[in-house]
Amino acid sequence: MEKILDGKKLAEKLNLELKNKIDELIKRTKIKPKLATILVGEDPASKVYVNIKHKTCTQVGIESYQVNLSKDINKTDLLNEIEKLNQDTDIHGILLQLPLPLKIRDFTPQFLEKISPIKDVDGFHPINRGKLFDYNEELAPCTPKGIIALLEHYNVEIKGKDVTIINRSNLVGKPLIFMLLKRNATVSVCHTSTRKIDRYIKQADILIVAVSRPKFIQKERIKEGVIIIDVGTNKVEGKLVGDVDFEDVLEKVSMITPVPGGVGPMTVSYLLRNTFSVFKKKLNIN
Ligand SMILES: NC(=O)c1ccc[n+]([C@@H]2O[C@H](COP(=O)([O-])OP(=O)(O)OC[C@H]3O[C@@H](n4cnc5c(N)ncnc54)[C@H](OP(=O)(O)O)[C@@H]3O)[C@@H](O)[C@H]2O)c1
Repeated sequence: MEKILDGKKLAEKLNLELKNKIDELIKRTKIKPKLATILVGEDPASKVYVNIKHKTCTQVGIESYQVNLSKDINKTDLLNEIEKLNQDTDIHGILLQLPLPLKIRDFTPQFLEKISPIKDVDGFHPINRGKLFDYNEELAPCTPKGIIALLEHYNVEIKGKDVTIINRSNLVGKPLIFMLLKRNATVSVCHTSTRKIDRYIKQADILIVAVSRPKFIQKERIKEGVIIIDVGTNKVEGKLVGDVDFEDVLEKVSMITPVPGGVGPMTVSYLLRNTFSVFKKKLNIN
């Protein structure tokens, strides 16, 4: 059994499969899928993420279009920019890079709601969130989709398993609850107010960690044979690391995702897949 859940390798395979499907569809329709990304301000990490998304789009044959907006943009103007993209029939998917600058951050839910639900490749619109409540994952958020795909690819049995998620954000923890319940797991969700968090960590057959704290999980805290999904991304001395002390836990786990090369590439891969999905829907193709 392979111990490392290699997200990079799986993402490359999925992206190649997707590229073939996109090429074939472009040949048939002469239309190219197009994703618009909106970047507000100059946040270096956001710039890096958007660039990775554009680069990977190009690799699979998705055209990408970047809208760069000033950090000083006001609420009305950003809503108008989103509406322009909603109305643009050449644009199939829209992504608003988060987090937004502090000045307008409080309005994030309103901006996400403004994105047309049929172009909502991040799966953050209330309609798509609501569909997930009914176990419809068509436009579910990309990171949870990537995590489930990784587990399923490596034949990890989810049914009947105790899964602990340490995160309750809209991006990671909340969508995962529904995806895991759909697959008949028993789900515990932990956060900063969880009392005696170690009970939940220790009981987990599958532990999903996204707290943004390097070395948050060490071998003393986990059960022998646990499967760990490390979602966290932290910069330590210029290096990207997760929330799990990888070297420390490696002997004790049965499987684990590395950082980098685990959840990150799977997230991007599912962004591309969601973009392809909205594109096909627009063309009325199943
Ligand atoms: N690789 C990828 O593709 C990818 C994608 C998405 C996110 N990420 C990474 O995942 C991490 C989380 O992202 P996010 O957007 O979900 O962040 P977030 O909104 O800040 O959520 C962090 C979560 O962790 C919980 N938490 C923090 N410290 C804790 C502690 N000491 N004990 C228990 N719970 C704790 C928080 O609890 P409260 O709710 O009580 O505050 C919150 O639910 C970040 O490192 C981010 O970069 C990676």
